[in-house]
Amino acid sequence: MTIDHRIQGSMQVTMSAPTLLILYGSQTGTAQDTAERIGRQAQRRRMQVRVEALDIYNVANLISETLVVFVCSTTGQGDPPDNMKNFWRFVFRKSLPAGSLCRLDYAVLGLGDSSYPRFNFVAKKLHKRLMQLGASVLLPVGLADDQHDLGADGVIDPWITSFWEKVLSLYPPPAGQSPIRDDEPLPPRYVFQFVDDVTENVADRLRVPQQPISPSPTHPFLAKVVFNERVTKASHFQDVRHIEFDITGSSIEFTAGDVVLMRPSNTRENVEQFCQLLRLDPDRQFTLSPTNSATCSIPARLAQPCTVRCLAETFLDIAAVPRRSFFELLATFATDEREREKLAEFSSAQGQDELHSYCNRPRRTALEVLTDFPHTTAELSVDYLLDLFPEIQPRSFSIASSLQAHPNRIQILLAVVQYKTKMYLPRKGLCSSWLASLDPRLGDVFVPLWVKKGSMKFPKDPETPVVMVGPGTGVAPFRAALQERIAQGKTANVLFFGCRSQSKDFYCSAEWEEMVKAGQLTLFTAFSRDQEDKIYVQQRVKEQAVLLWDLIVNKNAYFYIAGNAKQMPTAVCDALKEGFRSQGGMSSSQADEMLVAMERAGRFQSETWS
Ligand code: 2AM
Repeated sequence: MTIDHRIQGSMQVTMSAPTLLILYGSQTGTAQDTAERIGRQAQRRRMQVRVEALDIYNVANLISETLVVFVCSTTGQGDPPDNMKNFWRFVFRKSLPAGSLCRLDYAVLGLGDSSYPRFNFVAKKLHKRLMQLGASVLLPVGLADDQHDLGADGVIDPWITSFWEKVLSLYPPPAGQSPIRDDEPLPPRYVFQFVDDVTENVADRLRVPQQPISPSPTHPFLAKVVFNERVTKASHFQDVRHIEFDITGSSIEFTAGDVVLMRPSNTRENVEQFCQLLRLDPDRQFTLSPTNSATCSIPARLAQPCTVRCLAETFLDIAAVPRRSFFELLATFATDEREREKLAEFSSAQGQDELHSYCNRPRRTALEVLTDFPHTTAELSVDYLLDLFPEIQPRSFSIASSLQAHPNRIQILLAVVQYKTKMYLPRKGLCSSWLASLDPRLGDVFVPLWVKKGSMKFPKDPETPVVMVGPGTGVAPFRAALQERIAQGKTANVLFFGCRSQSKDFYCSAEWEEMVKAGQLTLFTAFSRDQEDKIYVQQRVKEQAVLLWDLIVNKNAYFYIAGNAKQMPTAVCDALKEGFRSQGGMSSSQADEMLVAMERAGRFQSETWS
């Protein structure tokens, strides 16, 4: 592309504010937070700016955009986040003509983790594709690394600085308008209107089961919790739950490997503390209106009118560790000198190590931060609540049951997250603690949920064996697969399961025993702490080299790994390849190639989470 349209563009925009579109693909909210930070910087530079998730954005309009920043994280094994999957499919369509994005100037900021395979794969691949489609890149792709991207030495801040230098040279702000200073608050995205005369209790509306046609993030199905039982001994360090939801009438369908998603609620105590800190009446009802309807719309899942309690309980992520933008915004309200200085430091590039020690390392929550900054909290205007707190993100769990074995039910295996940091109170995972607290014996409880296709696929052919390695709750998708396969008469199943102790956390053991007795399962167990030296699943994989070689080479078996231990998948792969070498007389590189070939053919699949 030539520079002409930019000059034309900049001549046009000297009369009106330049328009910037920021599109993000975010799994855990970091890319979204970064996109929103860039958005606020654009507002300070007097630009018209829109920040949207890639799958919310109408991608057909990309053809007429002129300036877009993509902020995309890479998840799992090099996959795009859930909220950009549709965009991803669209942009790689073969039918898109080569020059279709020739009007577009773009920049890509990737967020990745170098300890996972395919570092920043999504950002790199997107950049290549946009070039192919004729768009012009403004600066090299930013490759931020979760392992190191802290403080001024990181990638994000210098990348954003270079981005602004480039953009402002090409798209200068309207004549005569100076930027809004960093310490001045920007207008909020929404205005609250309290409606004191509304009598309907909207919070209750959320608890009444509805029957949407196809449950989705904006219209989840309210599934009744049928049971919720601890499956590890009380003396075991970890509380693992077996939870069952009733999905009768939901039209939800799934197969082994699929995933259920749900959005947790904040605890009652946190909601009360939040309302006290901000001096809000939890029963007051309000409606929201966007301050700029061209760039912002009302969140679809937020009922209108809504009580403050409902907003705090089901929407605002008040118990999460706040991100940098939280401090940036808070700093603009500070009048107390000491608080203002500290907040300014936490907002600056130089203060990121300090912020990490204060917030991330001890896992301090946003609510706890507010209590540390009482004067600033007292100054907060309710209108800024949705700017300050991100929305509670859905959490996903591998479904641990099959519809054939448990019609109208979804079961999960849930490890309740709780740990100590230097903070006085133990840290608790929002979703797992919330789910664990739902006791169906005390009355009806409903959980808003929906399902999505998982990445793991199981073979259709009844003769094809499957080998599954799933220590801990990694066994969940394999329980679903075993139930489904056995119901279909597929009996060539091998499971490697690992836990700490045969007597404390060997959950589902009675089920496995029955399957083994019926000749439907071959089971290998590794109890890591029942003897002096640790035994892990990879050791069992090594020991079974003869069997695995026969299954994989002679019987075309599929091999699966699932679990949350970061090192486990690599160790299992190494064990498997060692077997290829010893049984097949292969060199190291031949064993590597064999595993790659299996992966390409869909015969090696892994799913890990942390
Ligand atoms: P550990 O906690 O005794 O170290 C389920 O969590 C099981 O996975 C536990 O027995 C746990 O053992 C084990 N585990 C932890 N790290 C692992 C690794 N790197 N490879 C395989 N198993 C591991």
